[in-house]
Amino acid sequence: MPKPIVRRLSEPYIAGPDVVDACRAVKLLNERGKVATIDVLGEESSNSGQARDLACEYEDVFETIQRQRLDSTVSVKLTGLGLKLGYEVCRENLEIVVRRAAESANFVTIDMEDSSTTDETLRLYRQLREAEHDNVGIVLQASLRRTIDDVATVTDLKPNVRLCKGIYIEPEVIAFRDFDAVRASFVQSLDALFEAGCYVGIATHDKWLVDAARRLVRERALADDEYEFQMLLGVRPDLGDELVRAGHRLRIYVPFGRQWYEYSLRRLQENPKIAGYVAADTLGRLRPRRRAQAA
Ligand code: FDA
Repeated sequence: MPKPIVRRLSEPYIAGPDVVDACRAVKLLNERGKVATIDVLGEESSNSGQARDLACEYEDVFETIQRQRLDSTVSVKLTGLGLKLGYEVCRENLEIVVRRAAESANFVTIDMEDSSTTDETLRLYRQLREAEHDNVGIVLQASLRRTIDDVATVTDLKPNVRLCKGIYIEPEVIAFRDFDAVRASFVQSLDALFEAGCYVGIATHDKWLVDAARRLVRERALADDEYEFQMLLGVRPDLGDELVRAGHRLRIYVPFGRQWYEYSLRRLQENPKIAGYVAADTLGRLRPRRRAQAA
């Protein structure tokens, strides 16, 4: 797909190429009562220098968050920090990020990538927590059949969990394909996480799931600081505003970086549905302009 088209399609979903762009977006979100998590866009690192560079880039992010007094955590992808180069390479880089986060009382969520990384990601997370790094959280994907078992195996750590549907297309033998089955798995996992007393970031733009989560929160009489909702930058801000107005904490995922092309393209390729969303969103934004021109 030609670069200018990908750039145009992905514009609302990426803060810009530099940390200042991400922080500008976070500042606006904070002013509107939303908190954030910043992700430095990076491809799977192909050598250890690249993986270390990504870890170091997060230093700038923490420094800027602190200097500008922004309310934002960070999110990291382990393949960017060298997971495919070796478990130890990745652990060292992740520790750099997590230690630096702790120095500024910040928090790191480890994004979950495709199923080839699930075991090692969970293992690395446990290793960090057992080494008393408490400022780190994990993501679980409701589309994976294993997730309800993973909930049971991580709850002894009282993890901070982001629960999402999962963006990666996986074989049917390991993942639910049916839309309603994914929703059911999401609700079941969310309930099990709440039951175990975990703090959950409920990451979805699916209104049906948002409503189901709100019901669970109400039934369990959870306080505002015992869970949060999470959404992606530029996606369904109307639904996000509704949650904030109703008094829920909402965290927005803010990706930035120079590798926007690869990231956007991969997202479009990984899940053609997103191409549809992006196209629908673009049309939505173009239609009024056309009407205005016609008038
Ligand atoms: P669903 O796909 O049904 O979307 C519901 C509605 O939201 C759609 O009908 C559409 O209107 C809108 N929508 C959703 N996505 C959109 C988009 N990109 N553009 C425009 N409109 C869109 N996945 C993963 O595998 N690992 C991870 O670490 C993360 N991290 C993560 C963080 C946060 C904060 C969020 C919100 C999501 C993730 N994800 C993720 C992605 C997640 O797994 C999932 O793919 C998307 O959130 C879409 O699923 P929904 O639950 O929103 O439902």
